Amino acid sequence: MAINERFEQLVLETDLNSPAPENEPARQAWFLARARMITQKRIKEEGRPLTFRVETFGCQMNARDSEKIIGILESAGFTEAESEDADFLIYNTCTVRDNADQRVFGRLGRAGHLKKNRPGMKIAVCGCMVQEKSNVEKIRKSYRFVDLVFGTHNLYRFAEYLCSCLESDGMVVEIWDRADRIVEALPVARKYPFKSGTNITFGCNNFCSYCIVPYVRGRERSRTPVEILSECERLVSDGVVEIMLLGQNVNSYGKDLDTPCTFAELLTEVCKIEGLQRIRFMTPHPKDLSDEVIEVVRSNEKIARHIHLPLQSGSDRILARMNRHYSKEQYIALAQKIRDRIPDVSITTDIIVGFPGENDRDIDDTIDVVRRVGFDNAFTFIYSKRAGTPAAKMPDQVPDEEKNRMFDRVLKAVQETAHGRAERLTGRTMEALAEEVNVKDSSYITARLSNNMLVHVPGDPSMIGKMLQVRLDECRGFYFFGTVV
Ligand code: SAH
Ligand code: SF4
Ligand code: F3S
Repeated sequence: MAINERFEQLVLETDLNSPAPENEPARQAWFLARARMITQKRIKEEGRPLTFRVETFGCQMNARDSEKIIGILESAGFTEAESEDADFLIYNTCTVRDNADQRVFGRLGRAGHLKKNRPGMKIAVCGCMVQEKSNVEKIRKSYRFVDLVFGTHNLYRFAEYLCSCLESDGMVVEIWDRADRIVEALPVARKYPFKSGTNITFGCNNFCSYCIVPYVRGRERSRTPVEILSECERLVSDGVVEIMLLGQNVNSYGKDLDTPCTFAELLTEVCKIEGLQRIRFMTPHPKDLSDEVIEVVRSNEKIARHIHLPLQSGSDRILARMNRHYSKEQYIALAQKIRDRIPDVSITTDIIVGFPGENDRDIDDTIDVVRRVGFDNAFTFIYSKRAGTPAAKMPDQVPDEEKNRMFDRVLKAVQETAHGRAERLTGRTMEALAEEVNVKDSSYITARLSNNMLVHVPGDPSMIGKMLQVRLDECRGFYFFGTVV
């Protein structure tokens, strides 16, 4: 259920006879009260609940945004549906690679058919993909059954858009080029009762030459430490034991605040919250992961023994063209320092293969880093050309066949090191947070170790949300079977 008493109070105090206020979040509270009135009327008339479905693509940021969307929908009186056949269906999209775009258009096409059989159904598209004009044009032209399109910068106005969409026919389209502010206190529904993400920064200033994120998420904006800490405290008092601090580059947290605060300082404060058992963060950029942050992680047992440190490439030539601001040897030295100072830490990474101009010698360098660092896991992506980014204009784009061949080389190296890293933990007893019933066998519970690896243990749903002591009996590549001790 959505939590935010501050906002709920505003909704209850709203006077729908006066015009919507201009200030936020009071304005959204006014629209939410109105949306509630509309849904209640429809629920009564139709004698059944009104349902919603949120389909999320992309990263943790989008997952968190979807929780905000669900927060509003639940507060407005909608009930979550099991499938996309719902009264309000919304796609929260990602555009980081071309296949992400394609998947959304495929799903959207099918949603159009559902709508034909469900009078009054509303279909919305939001998120990173629609920050690109060409995608909005495509929706306007070829997906005319869509009712609402809004972007990443104006998500806080969702209650307002929901209202216009429920009250009118025709497509509502609202995309902003930049964010005007951070609006706090809106309701958020959590996917898991016991763990949550928390935004610390929005946007990105790094402009890696292949990446669309800075264009669709805008410039970096930090939330104040007071807002972040009070959100974390609220989450903990609501039963959350694990929090993930989210930002495209968490290391640059706080530089834009009136009273600057470093990421290391913020982490230290979050660690002090009583009842919070585990803290994660995503993503630190290797170019500025400070010694202070490494020290804070080392000295605070609450912080997960896991650093996701995107490498992207091991070739100096490619790294320079990617605008990453570090060299192969600097990256290896940093990874080594992390391993030396934080015992048992796992280091995972992201790698892009087939960047313009990349050849087998560059891939040799990437594989060399994979072997020397010994990643615990890695997400390997085939380079996808994103219109508007500098890399898209580079003349030496790599043919698909070459990309695929080089990708297979990197993947093989990654799998070899990752298996070896997991294997060495067999027999150890470690803390694991029970997260869900195993999808394949319901007599098992899936739990997550501090180092982010999964372990399946015999158990029952009453264990979910609890921190367990688990012996890792058997390694199966990237995960374990274990027993609670
Ligand atoms: N801010 C994070 C990651 C954001 S995107 C960071 O800097 O690490 C997540 C991952 O998608 C990136 O790490 C990168 O490996 C991959 N990615 C981004 N743009 C891409 C592109 N054009 N083609 C293929 N992979 C891409
Ligand atoms: Fe994209 Fe680079 Fe920013 Fe990550 S740091 S979001 S890869 S521009
Ligand atoms: Fe995708 Fe947007 Fe995240 S493009 S990776 S959902 S910031």
